[in-house]
Amino acid sequence: MPKIKDIPKIDRPREKFLQKGSDALSKSDLLAIILGSGIKGKNVRQLSENIIKKFGKNFLNITVDDLLGISGIGQAKALQIVSAISLVKRFYADEKTSEIIIKNSQDVLSLTCDLRDKKKEHLVCLYLNARNSLLKKEVVSVGLLDKALLHPREIFYPATELNAASVILIHNHPSGDSSPSEKDNQIVEKIVQAGEIMGIPVIDFIIVSENDYFSFHEKIKGPSKNIDYVADGIQGTLFAIFEVKKPDYEITAEKIQENYFYIPQVKENYIQLHNRRYIGNKHKLIEWIFSIINKECSGNSFADIFAGTGVVSAVATKHFEKVLLNDFLHSNYAIYRAFFGNEAWDKNKIDNIIKSYNNIYGDDIEDNYFSKNFGGKFFSKNSAKIIGFIRENIEENKNNLTEREYYMLIASLLYTADKIANTVGHFDAYFKKEFVNDSFFMKPIDPIDVQEISIFQEDTNVLAKKIKADVVYIDPPYNSRQYSRFYHVLETLTKWDKPKLYGVALKPEPENMSDYCRANAKEKFAELVRYLDTKFLNNPCLV
Ligand SMILES: C[S@@+](CC[C@H](N)C(=O)[O-])C[C@H]1O[C@@H](n2cnc3c(N)ncnc32)[C@H](O)[C@@H]1O
Repeated sequence: MPKIKDIPKIDRPREKFLQKGSDALSKSDLLAIILGSGIKGKNVRQLSENIIKKFGKNFLNITVDDLLGISGIGQAKALQIVSAISLVKRFYADEKTSEIIIKNSQDVLSLTCDLRDKKKEHLVCLYLNARNSLLKKEVVSVGLLDKALLHPREIFYPATELNAASVILIHNHPSGDSSPSEKDNQIVEKIVQAGEIMGIPVIDFIIVSENDYFSFHEKIKGPSKNIDYVADGIQGTLFAIFEVKKPDYEITAEKIQENYFYIPQVKENYIQLHNRRYIGNKHKLIEWIFSIINKECSGNSFADIFAGTGVVSAVATKHFEKVLLNDFLHSNYAIYRAFFGNEAWDKNKIDNIIKSYNNIYGDDIEDNYFSKNFGGKFFSKNSAKIIGFIRENIEENKNNLTEREYYMLIASLLYTADKIANTVGHFDAYFKKEFVNDSFFMKPIDPIDVQEISIFQEDTNVLAKKIKADVVYIDPPYNSRQYSRFYHVLETLTKWDKPKLYGVALKPEPENMSDYCRANAKEKFAELVRYLDTKFLNNPCLV
């Protein structure tokens, strides 16, 4: 039996490793290095070959006892091998579970301290999942930051690849002054708006210098506020807390001109279903959506189970005999009952009530729940007084109204409030500027004529077990932001239970928090698809 010293030096495992690196070695060579020496009658290479051959693919699960079964292997050698395997396994396990959660700017700074003394400007992006766990840290650009040169694609393309729920940007100022320049402000605005359109919000933009930093998130929230990105269960985003304009973008989907689409005519003196601001509403995509539905699906019944504004259902009523719509928000339910309900209502009565509401002046009435909480914030003091007064009046007169009339008046008030709200379109924040729209003017709604409609206000996964439809249109939320929190003012105005309100955005206790905005969305979605009794489902990733 040749001893290891009889093998030419270059072929001995240790020498081979040192000269050519680990990749040049076979598994048995690597094991030979761990074992170090052979036993009587077997050199270390042969011993290693025997072990690798005997356990093959099971090598990583070898136990000390398994090894003791091999002649010549004693406890010391067995422990050497099993410990080496356990050590590697331990590191792999740590790698898999070592999650970095980004809670606030301090967590960001500790991850990016290398940027502070860079001589050139860098822009670094942190890509996060829905739990704010770090998916990837990437340098997006090196050199002077310029709005004209930086394309949002560079930030958001990797974000879509990584399935990121949000991003945080960090930029260094080699000058030593961390205050944002005019260019920084322009870039933040551009990226924040792009993120909003993409549904991948920008949580923070941080500028670091050698000894200092500036966080847009902290600056906007103010020094006394909790600086954590997730507060009150809600993810803070720069779009939500920043005073940026509503993005002025055009949907570029190809327009398909077919005359079977129901596009509501503009009626100056009436409110139409789509005349509201609502995140994720499909009004602008409706032609495209129905061109696909009409091509790919057939049947008599249609269910819009995350209906939002209800614009998809409105068009569905023109193509399907039976339509079902559902959303768990109180305000959406009231709007559906108003627009789609088939109960009786008196047009003259509604017109006259609204006319009388339009003759109310803020100066003539007392402060009320709505004006005390929202006046001078989400609405002008005057408008808030009028809105609160009218809502109280609708409630007091409930017995003189049919259910349909009751919901019609509430819907008119909701649309009017949305139109004059001092916000970017939702109620996570209000503009801090002096001027607020003070032109309260209520219009009646323009109801939609329907054959057979069922209106629900339920959690979708509960409803899914009870319904049946040929086509089910699924349009759940796409990120961690809860609709019930975004539209809390409309919810409070609808329920009129005058809850205690909390925080800067004056929100009530959480209600209707959707699992589709949480980490378990995937499981909920799988459950939903299992429960649904239908022939056709849309792919919510596409529409
Ligand atoms: C993307 S929006 C739907 C937009 C709608 N297709 C439109 O065109 O207006 C998602 C809607 O799902 C509702 N929602 C979220 N989770 C829900 C749940 N678990 N049950 C019922 N509705 C839910 C939200 O209130 C929101 O209105």
